[in-house]
Amino acid sequence: PGIVAVVPAAGVGKRMQANIPKQYLTIGDKTILEHTVNCLLQHADIVAVIIAISDGDEYFAETGLQDDSRVTVVSGGKERADSVLSGLIAAGDAKWVMVHDAARPCLQHGDLDALIDTAITSEHGAILAAPVRDTMKRADSHGGINETVCREQLWHALTPQMFPTEMLRDALKSALENSLLVTDEASAIELAGGKPKLVQGSASNIKVTQPDDLNLAAYYLSTR
Ligand code: C5P
Repeated sequence: PGIVAVVPAAGVGKRMQANIPKQYLTIGDKTILEHTVNCLLQHADIVAVIIAISDGDEYFAETGLQDDSRVTVVSGGKERADSVLSGLIAAGDAKWVMVHDAARPCLQHGDLDALIDTAITSEHGAILAAPVRDTMKRADSHGGINETVCREQLWHALTPQMFPTEMLRDALKSALENSLLVTDEASAIELAGGKPKLVQGSASNIKVTQPDDLNLAAYYLSTR
């Protein structure tokens, strides 16, 4: 299928404690954003990539992505979901859309293949996810433990997440209009009553969030 990828890249990356947004930190000779987008562009089923960047972004123009005819840039928004919606609007009448965080440069094509296979046969799309490994605790407001949460059915939601474009656009619009909290695309579909499928992805598909993650991402990329 011809899939359009939307990459939210309009965050500031506060937790990274760097003086530039984390998607523009470099690993080897490329920025994190370039690693991420190149992986998507190198997949045969992905026909275009729409990147949401913040207004006043001074770094994108310096990347090699500028000159790729399959890449389009849109203006991101206040929250991640706003940035994603800008991208979805630009996706027009594309049948399928895949949303992938700019900050996940270690995505592999095997995971993409598995996600696409499941999403195109699912009624409400699919997401990459990883089973929780540790014992999970719910905290009280004083740093104490309220309870242990059974981890049997708990998964980390990763990206990419893939849906019929119109379904996701409608779901996200309605969630945002109603000020509902959506921290990933599947949650918008869930709020609209849908049930996306979980596809187990590899644990190396980390989101670069804290300074330490940069070394780990560099390691994973060096093993390719
Ligand atoms: O902050 P967090 O790690 O959850 O961000 C996930 C992705 O969403 C990052 O790639 C970030 O650039 C993007 N984002 C965005 N617009 C925002 C906030 C985050 O595109 N307003």
